[in-house]
Amino acid sequence: MYFNKIRHPSNFTFAHRHDDGRLDVGDGSVQATVRDLGEDVFHVELAHATRWPLDARLLPLYEDAFSGPSSHRVAISASGTLSVTDAAGAAVLDGTEGASIGVCGSAWLIQFVRDEGMRFFGQGEKVTGLEKTGRRTKFWNADVWADHPLSVVIDGQADPQYAAIPYLLIRRGTAWVGILVDHPGAVFMDLGSNWFFTGKDDLDAPPSLWFGADQGVPAFYVIAGDSVAAVTQRLQRLVGTTPLPPLWSLGHHQCRWGYAGPRDLHQLDAGFSRHEFPCDGLWLDIDYMERYKVFTTSAEHFDDRAAELAELDARGRRVVPILDPGVKVEAGYEVAENGLAAGIFCQNPEGRPYVGFVWPGRTWFPDFSLPEGRDWWAGYARQFRDWGFHGAWLDMNDPSVGAAELDDMRFQHGRWEHWTYHNQYATGMAQATREGFLAARPDERPFLLARSAATGSSRYTAVWTGDNWSNWHHLRTSIHCTLNLALSGIPFNGPDVPGFGGSPDRDLAIAWYKAGAFFPFLRNHANAGTPQQEPWAFGADALAIIRHYVRLRYKLLPYFYQLWVAQERDGAAVMRPLFHDFPNLEGLELDRVDDQFLVGPALMQAPLVHPGEQHRAVVLPGRADGATRWMDAGNGRFLAGGRGIQVDSNAHSTPLFLLEGRLVPMQVGERTSQHNDLADIELHVILGAGSDAVATLDYVADDGLTYGYQRGERSRCHLRAQRTGDVLHLAISEVEAGWKPLRLRVVGYDGAAQAVITTPAGTVTQDLAPHRWTFSGEPLAAAIGDAVVL
Ligand code: GLC
Repeated sequence: MYFNKIRHPSNFTFAHRHDDGRLDVGDGSVQATVRDLGEDVFHVELAHATRWPLDARLLPLYEDAFSGPSSHRVAISASGTLSVTDAAGAAVLDGTEGASIGVCGSAWLIQFVRDEGMRFFGQGEKVTGLEKTGRRTKFWNADVWADHPLSVVIDGQADPQYAAIPYLLIRRGTAWVGILVDHPGAVFMDLGSNWFFTGKDDLDAPPSLWFGADQGVPAFYVIAGDSVAAVTQRLQRLVGTTPLPPLWSLGHHQCRWGYAGPRDLHQLDAGFSRHEFPCDGLWLDIDYMERYKVFTTSAEHFDDRAAELAELDARGRRVVPILDPGVKVEAGYEVAENGLAAGIFCQNPEGRPYVGFVWPGRTWFPDFSLPEGRDWWAGYARQFRDWGFHGAWLDMNDPSVGAAELDDMRFQHGRWEHWTYHNQYATGMAQATREGFLAARPDERPFLLARSAATGSSRYTAVWTGDNWSNWHHLRTSIHCTLNLALSGIPFNGPDVPGFGGSPDRDLAIAWYKAGAFFPFLRNHANAGTPQQEPWAFGADALAIIRHYVRLRYKLLPYFYQLWVAQERDGAAVMRPLFHDFPNLEGLELDRVDDQFLVGPALMQAPLVHPGEQHRAVVLPGRADGATRWMDAGNGRFLAGGRGIQVDSNAHSTPLFLLEGRLVPMQVGERTSQHNDLADIELHVILGAGSDAVATLDYVADDGLTYGYQRGERSRCHLRAQRTGDVLHLAISEVEAGWKPLRLRVVGYDGAAQAVITTPAGTVTQDLAPHRWTFSGEPLAAAIGDAVVL
């Protein structure tokens, strides 16, 4: 697959007439359907029996998730031009007149007018910047180190990456539109890349943007809205929200290509305990298997698997081994023989199992497009969970096949060409693994992490952004890559920290941990042969700083958990770009800020992302009239929003801010281990002196592990806080204790001296005692009250 060139409208024939769903293209016609799904979500589809005979879409999206009326309109005019208009009838997207819906053999293309004020985001996992204007790209799951030169991987913008999410978010003025191409194969998009080469004639044509695919049923969704948040939530509900993750998966994870079995993990366990460094996940890379054979464990590394894993479990460590889809071709290997007999391997055009090359050498590949292929894999995944492993790390599922040609790998017993399922392969593997885990432990939330992904995979698995490099470029890239993934329906993701390839120095390790501590997923992972990069590998001083930020992550887990509750419920984004929550201001274009991010509605991190940096420019979004203030977590000062400031920082601190008017639930005190309790919290009331804001929060807590919360085993309360002078007034209502009683301590700032707390049982008044906590490395004075038990 060539990545650089895509189809060009010049070679397409465009629809010129539209009459009641019949679209005349050239001298033939195709059927066009536009369906309004409600809530400004629309589905557009073309059909033609011979151009697109096969519908290879196997993962249905949740089209019936929408009930309210739409205010926008998506329509095809009598001249065959597709447009999106708002409630007032004003154009949000204009199809290119005379060149709007085109075909070229089995390829198809949709073209819109691009005006200079339009801005583009999303596009899933790409390392091409937060903003995508001027980009030309393909969506095709790549095996990045095999498909791109390593120099481009290390310092450039290798495109495409492992996950293909053909989604584009467009801003035009104050309007936002998402376009999700509903296609399992390669999709292409051009957002104005070609101006340099266009001839004079083309310069007379209006600038355009286009997207399409080489084959397969032409179909896409249009999602309109007046905010990024609204469009992103609708996208997430359409593709499936992320199931509430187990709490342990939100902690710190330690991985390395080289950790091979319980002996390595016991050493890690001892290291993390000795350093009082919280860490939930200990990971095993390919060496834990017997000669890299999937669903085996090596006798060299395991003495008594069940006992060894139980011991780690008892110490609060969760073991997550790697699973590669490729099955070693070997006589006598039960998994290979069984799969062959069941006929579930992908086939080559000669009707024999397709052979690729992965770590064990020659490998066959389960065909996850077949229900029986997924069932077959789920059976082994179930056994794997029963062995005592807590999660699964799904790798090489792009699929990675070494030097063999992917086109020879076919699906559906050889009937379907490779493109039909390529991008969905990893999603099928995740779906099957999740089924296996649920079969083994029906009441436990599975945790999976996958390298490749596609539209809809967030229902099954989290994603890490694959093999990155230990350099500052990759640290910066990781921020906008994760933000665009969040805008594209893959909220649970994160990079290898502090980089997979190469060797991070102390400064990079510290800087990357300071940023990574606030990402949705945090795992330290390194390539084989690289220097050790466990948190204690960079010296005592670095360890103290890194540990501080990981402890802070654990302290913030109750807050993070609320974000995942909201994500599961209604698709609200977790890590977000500034423009997700705040509008642009004159001279303050938030959609150009690619090195700061929000975590939920209350927290903003502006990490140092350049070597040797001692200070940086930080944008404080929000209103400039004093209505928005941010609390600098380094010194507790409340700062007016709606402007840019310069912030000094050093190795110990990081520019971290909390938004006034928010209630932030945290764990109690400093977190020195991975043992968490969501029922015992400090409620940080972010209201500065003179604030008249009303802060509210629905707090929910559960065991963080089972599905008990779906059966009512969940505690919750509604919290509402205001401030008069130095008194905080906190009203607690709607208290439910379906799990266990909630214990809550109030923490106030900026001179808050007293809390008046109204609960259903009565009112208590507490003097808030001075309290010191370091949020960003610097000591921060706060005032804390005694626990109230609800
Ligand atoms: C791939 C994975 C990497 C893993 C390695 C060995 O490169 O992306 O994370 O460590 O394979 O399994």
